[in-house]
Amino acid sequence: MSLPLSGHLSFEAISTVSTSTPGCLDSIPAEVYKDLRPEVGREFGNAFDFGRPQALSTYLDSPALQTNEVSPGALSLTALVKLLASQTSAPSLEQIYDWLENAEVSAEELAPYRGFKDGNYWRHLVCRNEFVEMLVLCWRPGQRTPIHDHNGSHGGVRVCEGTMWETTFTYDPAKGLRYKTASEYSTGAVTGSDIPDIHQLGNPDVSEQDMVTIHIYAPPLGVLHTYKPGSAAVDLYTPPEPE
Ligand SMILES: [Fe+2]
Repeated sequence: MSLPLSGHLSFEAISTVSTSTPGCLDSIPAEVYKDLRPEVGREFGNAFDFGRPQALSTYLDSPALQTNEVSPGALSLTALVKLLASQTSAPSLEQIYDWLENAEVSAEELAPYRGFKDGNYWRHLVCRNEFVEMLVLCWRPGQRTPIHDHNGSHGGVRVCEGTMWETTFTYDPAKGLRYKTASEYSTGAVTGSDIPDIHQLGNPDVSEQDMVTIHIYAPPLGVLHTYKPGSAAVDLYTPPEPE
């Protein structure tokens, strides 16, 4: 299976890769899959602290595993944190995609990061180091990002609850911002954005349900560029510090 690394994954591509394939986990350290208990270290808010030893959890405690419904090699949130902490350089977009594709994050693990605001989607930091960060974002119906790029970072998103809409754009300094594509991602879907991509994510107002997504960015997001339809103006935008 080859994944397109330039540009966004098409809906068809996502459907194609929706089942795990052998080899996706080749680069994941074996120790991540050991039988470990979930004890989440929190130094600020609910974020993991990479500087402290972490006791890990795999899916082994999940009800789904007890019924043999979880595939071997599935990654709990704590296992993802361990992987991110082990990085010595920024992971590739393909690597991030593989991690998210194999994520099996339980509602129990998401609970500390599950919180919503009426005015805007809420960003919750799970872990961060100089190479990579992981966030959980919680969205009420109708909440969406500005149109933006990641200004030097690439990243992946997994939809844990709800339905996500993504709109992509092209930008030309002379012609401005132009609509490119629109895609819908259901619970369990994974998509990625390469460094030059311009997009907008959101929970559609017609969904009538909350949305929870996991995001991994490498390197961690800094100041983003934002765009407006029909305009050549590019503004700077610093996302609110995750909580
Ligand atoms: Fe983005």
